[in-house]
Amino acid sequence: MTRHLVVLAGALSALLASCSKRSPAAPAASPAPSAATPGAGASLDALDTRTPLPLLPMMAQHQKQNMRDHLVAVQEIVAALASDDFAGVERAAGRIGFSEEEAQMCGHMGAGGPGFTEQALAFHHQADKVAAAARDKDRARVVTELGTTLKACTACHAIWKQQVVDAATWQRLTAGAPPMQHMH
Ligand code: HEC
Repeated sequence: MTRHLVVLAGALSALLASCSKRSPAAPAASPAPSAATPGAGASLDALDTRTPLPLLPMMAQHQKQNMRDHLVAVQEIVAALASDDFAGVERAAGRIGFSEEEAQMCGHMGAGGPGFTEQALAFHHQADKVAAAARDKDRARVVTELGTTLKACTACHAIWKQQVVDAATWQRLTAGAPPMQHMH
């Protein structure tokens, strides 16, 4: 009887041991979204052969926020056009149009990537043509200019990828360009 209990206890502890051995491995199968795996980032970088645009972390974050807002602007342009709301088209296009403030930000963003700023400014000037066509209540021209604007989006995306760098690298790559003092 005692022997049976010992065997049972042994079997139970073996079972528990195997369970507790398995449980720490479980998170590895489904990592938390925030779990950083440095090697994976390097692998992605090697696969993505676009030209690196060096940015400080704060700038990279701001750029992505801006970009998502660009897409919202396009969404609003299309929605307004669908209901012949030309004032709405003009307002939405204005959000991606040229301004001195925008130009200054593009200058900072492109400080480490020769050619980026020019492409960004050309994009904002192109977006102004969407607003101009809307002012003229010219539906066909709004669509044409929006198409050309979207081409500017995709052409830039085809060339550049963010490269997040530290302050020392930023200084070296931009010869000390001030990092976004005029950003909003
Ligand atoms: C002058 C260059 C340039 C132009 C023009 C441009 N983008 Fe981007 N966009 C970028 C860069 C650089 C990234 C980051 C790409 C990367 O690292 O993969 C980006 C990323 C994005 C992202 C992903 C954001 C995220 O959260 O990851 C969206 C969405 C986007 N752009 C939308 C647009 C739209 C819509 C337009 C045009 C209306 C546009 N962009 C025009 C350079 C540009």
